[in-house]
Amino acid sequence: MASHDARARKNIHFHSRKNFWQGCSHDFCVCFGVTPNAALEGCEITDRNLSVKSLTRVGVLRALAAIILFAGVTAFADDAPTGFDTLTNGFADQDTFAADLAKFEEVEAIKDGLGPVYNAQSCRECHQNPVSGGSSQITELRVGHLDQRGRFQDARIPIVRGTVVITGRSLVNDRAICPNKDFPNTEIQERVPDSENIRTLRVSLNLLGDGFVEAIADQTLIDLARNQCRASRGAICGQALRVPIVEAPGQTAIGRFGWKDQHASLLSFAADAYLNEMGITNPLQPDEVTTLCNTVSEPNDTPGADGLADIDRFARFVRSTKAAPRDDTLAATSQAVKGAALFQRVGCVICHVQSLTTAPVGSKVNGSAFTVPDALGGKTIHPYSDFLLHDVGTGDGIVMAWTEHYGKNVYNIDWKGRSDELVQRTRNKIRTPPLWGVRMRARLMHDGGSVTFSDAIRRHRGEASKVVRKFNDLNQADRQAIEEFLRSL
Ligand code: HEC
Ligand code: HEC
Repeated sequence: MASHDARARKNIHFHSRKNFWQGCSHDFCVCFGVTPNAALEGCEITDRNLSVKSLTRVGVLRALAAIILFAGVTAFADDAPTGFDTLTNGFADQDTFAADLAKFEEVEAIKDGLGPVYNAQSCRECHQNPVSGGSSQITELRVGHLDQRGRFQDARIPIVRGTVVITGRSLVNDRAICPNKDFPNTEIQERVPDSENIRTLRVSLNLLGDGFVEAIADQTLIDLARNQCRASRGAICGQALRVPIVEAPGQTAIGRFGWKDQHASLLSFAADAYLNEMGITNPLQPDEVTTLCNTVSEPNDTPGADGLADIDRFARFVRSTKAAPRDDTLAATSQAVKGAALFQRVGCVICHVQSLTTAPVGSKVNGSAFTVPDALGGKTIHPYSDFLLHDVGTGDGIVMAWTEHYGKNVYNIDWKGRSDELVQRTRNKIRTPPLWGVRMRARLMHDGGSVTFSDAIRRHRGEASKVVRKFNDLNQADRQAIEEFLRSL
């Protein structure tokens, strides 16, 4: 059993095919044929860096060299653990993980500080498929408008019959705690006025494996952006955006979480979500969106005897999750193997990057607020994303709201490398969504508006135009192979 586990951890698959024998890791395959001129049909090489192909006619020596190379590379590539098994990746111990998971699943009520305006009562309500920490079909509403100079402005949402206006956000909460028994006349439900005419839905995201994403060095993402831009001669140039680390005032890092790359830190994101999705103020987001109907002391979430607040537990939970596993059965089919190679050949991998390696153990990330631990450092992940912002023609026109994501105090701090100009440029850009676990999503793209893989692919334009043209030029069987590959992710 031990050797089986070890193999599963490295995600190596061995197959015996008609005319050849094939060994595949996530990164690449090698094929060996024994008969001269044997057709290596179905043997696709799936790597950019290393391809060992068609050893049919060569001697045993080269075959052996390839085997040694394959074994060597897979031995060194320490793949991050994957699984929908609700077991820790080793960052926290299993008991701590289970306790943090229970916090993540906890349903909050008014007495806990829920609202006054909110979207749901529990993190799990929106992050649950197929296990807590996954994604869901839940969408949220974002709106805004342009000013006279054509710059994006956050929404102005009137409540209480127009007597109070909520500002500083693009998010519109779908629920409110009042009117209720104690406040029968306080109408705080948010509704979009006609003037907020830039509107979109944003679907929920998967969190499983995000601890590894947080542990990717900023420089890795910056280099990725530079290299893809150079290699595509300026056609595909992802934007790496510096965003505030709320727990390290003044520090910034390259954003990688959320449809707009609005956060680099999972703790910052947890604090943002606790306030903006659930209405629960916390040490990093102490200001209520409105205090009308509020009855609980502030902040609602405070550190307990162990010094940890709920937001710390949420972050520790996400950091302890394993990444989404492949559907190994489907991944091993010749159709999916062929699709993986085509995904590479037409250039989907330029943005949906197959493999990234996290920073070495002991590195500082999040503006030095987090030190990469053993469980997360030096791990290779297969997220199928560059985590950069691109204009693929689907942009929703909304620039992220600073006050909403980083708190009212954001403008009082001098953030390293922050640029409003660069942020305005993100208006029609979306982060390349990681495709790991995409088979668990029935609604695709930021707005959940595409329900088949082929529709989602055909919606790509802008920076992805050339790649999608190549996809469209493939014959039907080849296009279907790419979709089969996506179904295995
Ligand atoms: C009402 C639904 C909802 C609730 C409740 C909710 N989320 Fe989310 N979550 C979302 C949506 C939607 C996104 C994508 C938001 C965006 O980028 O605009 C998201 C994104 C995230 C991300 C970024 C994931 C990534 O890989 O980019 C993290 C982390 C996260 N949520 C954590 C939490 C935590 C922790 C809680 C509980 C405190 C929570 N969420 C509660 C809907 C929700
Ligand atoms: C220029 C970068 C780029 C290229 C090239 C690219 N994509 Fe994308 N992809 C994106 C972005 C950005 C989105 C999100 C768009 C949105 O939500 O509006 C996306 C979304 C997707 C989604 C939906 C994922 C989800 O979770 O909703 C799929 C599936 C997908 N791409 C597959 C492909 C395939 C297959 C190819 C090659 C034919 C490809 N992409 C090429 C950037 C790219």
